[in-house]
Amino acid sequence: MKQSYLRLLENNKAWATLKKYNDPDFFEQLAKGQTPEYLWIGCSDSRVPANEITGTKPGELFVHRNIANMVVHSDMNMLSVLSYAVEVLKVKHIIVCGHYGCGGVVAAMGNKQYGLIDNWLRHIKDVYRFHFPELDAIKDEDQRTRRFVELNIIEQVHDLGKTSIVQNAWKNNQPLHIHGWVYDVKDGIIKDLDVNFTSTKDLHEVYRLDSIQQEQPKKPSKVLAEI
Ligand code: CO
Repeated sequence: MKQSYLRLLENNKAWATLKKYNDPDFFEQLAKGQTPEYLWIGCSDSRVPANEITGTKPGELFVHRNIANMVVHSDMNMLSVLSYAVEVLKVKHIIVCGHYGCGGVVAAMGNKQYGLIDNWLRHIKDVYRFHFPELDAIKDEDQRTRRFVELNIIEQVHDLGKTSIVQNAWKNNQPLHIHGWVYDVKDGIIKDLDVNFTSTKDLHEVYRLDSIQQEQPKKPSKVLAEI
């Protein structure tokens, strides 16, 4: 019996052939380098393919995906992607795109233990705790989950703004716009949550960071100067 994964390799050959047929320079141009305008932070969910749902081509989106599209400030993977995207690629927009029906968010609403992943889901539980008066007031469970998905996305937009990487870009007058979007797996439509961060003014004051003060080089001491 033919292994199912072989289909992926065959599809790939067909795709590459078609791309080259339509545009003989397609791969040569891409091989020269990338200048994406967008960093996409999305969920790992297989139903939310970043390029496909946004109609973007290879080279247009720099992508980071994890369970429930989280921005965890101690996550070296996320920080490395963010740093490279902002400081080297100089993306102009960062899009946090979550989705309704997110398994991570649903799991975080409950009390079941899943194993190691509970440590990741705990960050989402914190979002519930920040917003429990609003969430507990929603009696319909489906509606409450949908709102929790939205609030989780908004919280990740805040968390991006809190990073020194983003704040330093803003201080250097680098245009950088952070968006919060939600995708609906039921109809394929992305909704803009209208949470837009473009400067440190959009952050609570306690998170605003001053620039690093550069220490003036000290004069060599007399003894050292005489050596
Ligand atoms: Co998800």
